[in-house]
Amino acid sequence: MRVITAADGDDLGRIAASLVEDGDPAVVGVATGSSPIAAYREFVRRRSLREDVQLCLLDEYVGLPIGHPRRYRSVILEQLARPLGLRDDQVHGPDVDAADLAIATQRYEDDLSRLGGVDVQILGIGRNGHIGFNEPGTPFDSRTHVGVLTETTRHDNARFFRDLDDVPHRVITQGLGTIVAARRIVLIASGPTKREAIAALLSCPPTTDLPASVLLDHADVTIIGDQAALAGVLDHSTLLEPT
Ligand code: F6R
Repeated sequence: MRVITAADGDDLGRIAASLVEDGDPAVVGVATGSSPIAAYREFVRRRSLREDVQLCLLDEYVGLPIGHPRRYRSVILEQLARPLGLRDDQVHGPDVDAADLAIATQRYEDDLSRLGGVDVQILGIGRNGHIGFNEPGTPFDSRTHVGVLTETTRHDNARFFRDLDDVPHRVITQGLGTIVAARRIVLIASGPTKREAIAALLSCPPTTDLPASVLLDHADVTIIGDQAALAGVLDHSTLLEPT
């Protein structure tokens, strides 16, 4: 596991974009939230992703109407796909409007397989160590599933909604086993609220109490953090071998 400290938000975006575009990936897994925004801005500025790239959502809320601006599909269309001139059908995600969500989760796994798997997965990290919406306690071998958000996560995400009551309780998320099937992983951590989770990740053995620790067993993970997220965690970039 490689850890890179960025000088500031723009630097973080530049480094993340360079890492992701390395090797000209055909299938890119995309997180939403605030952490990857600088990297997405950089992709748009550089036009560095290939024209036929396929973007695969990491997760999606259940219960928001189609086209709702906070649906992760809407966010990725707006922040990344449309500014890059991609077609809407180049953005893939679980069908959260399906009558049977269990079938929808399996279909999304099938879609990912049909695309040949994810070349590089972009992740953020929750204050409680979640990746995707895999909250603490999620099994490391879990595949795409319906999840229930913790109140911590709902509170953290309330800033994107009018108020807390509008934040959905349920999501479909790629499972931890799905995420680590990606060939490369780039995790972006920004801000002081991520410091504790990153410190735990870099100092503890893998445990389902800290979902991100599933990454310790992956052969190609880079964490890029700003100074606030990595303050006191690492003094300089370092390399940790998979456990
Ligand atoms: C979003 C996702 C989440 C976020 C995490 C951090 O698709 O899967 O795991 O990456 O909650 O969110 P931000 O970046 O908003 O702090």
